[in-house]
Amino acid sequence: MPLFLYLYFVERKGKIGVFDSGFGGLTILRDIVHLFPMYEYVYLGDNARAPYGNKSFDLIYEYTLEGVKYLFEQGCELVILACNTASAKALRTIQQRDLPHLAPNKRVLGVIRPSTEEIGSLSRTGVVGILGTEGTVNSNSYVIELAKSSPNTKVYQQACPLWVPLIEEQQYHSPAGELIIASDLKRLFDQNATIDVIVLACTHYPILKPLIDSLVPPGVTVLSQGPLVAEKLKDYLNRHPEMEHRLALGAKLQCYTTESSDYFNEHASEIFGQALNAEQIQLT
Ligand code: DGL
Repeated sequence: MPLFLYLYFVERKGKIGVFDSGFGGLTILRDIVHLFPMYEYVYLGDNARAPYGNKSFDLIYEYTLEGVKYLFEQGCELVILACNTASAKALRTIQQRDLPHLAPNKRVLGVIRPSTEEIGSLSRTGVVGILGTEGTVNSNSYVIELAKSSPNTKVYQQACPLWVPLIEEQQYHSPAGELIIASDLKRLFDQNATIDVIVLACTHYPILKPLIDSLVPPGVTVLSQGPLVAEKLKDYLNRHPEMEHRLALGAKLQCYTTESSDYFNEHASEIFGQALNAEQIQLT
């Protein structure tokens, strides 16, 4: 192999880490891997401590930082917090306070800004709805970010605190599950009936998209974040060739979970669309 080719591949050692409180981030990873099948990925789901959505700021920050450190130890150069709750509560502190001394050349990105940069232009009525966890909704992150990128868009939010437990426990197809989901959607439209774009601002929710599509009024677009985040990652890597050149081209995926690997593999494979073989780890 010519020396320049050898050096090119040897230099490329970094992986992309994707972190979520549980299964949800797989809905983001799926789209990223679809767009960039050539990179090496490490997925970490903190299933044992999910849901994050109703936990305090301090706990979410602590858990997320543990996850990011673990992913750095696995050789990740770039970590995506594929969890809105972690992005809303922990991203800024990790970027500004922890990263400079922990790993100044590594990067941690979130999923909120990549989503808000696109949403406003998709609405005809100028009225959008945000569905998220209590943590995400109470943080007002979507309202704040949308005011920057699309100041004329009106935003209505609805917290859906039971949706993640319904998904993690595989209960969303039950009659009670469907009733809960329908009633949270009704609460959103009761705030404003002209909403024509709904953002599934929790990475778990795309699992419910077929059901949500069947429950919203005709003409309402229900958006999953995966394709938006994957496209924004493409922009990011184009703008940051120094990062792109550090990414390994091994086309591999390693999954870790803080729950039992049998539990993870069974449900995660269904969400991801192909068999996954996770290793159980403990975060401290
Ligand atoms: N999937 C995460 C999100 O995007 C949080 C789910 C949870 O653990 O509450 O907000």
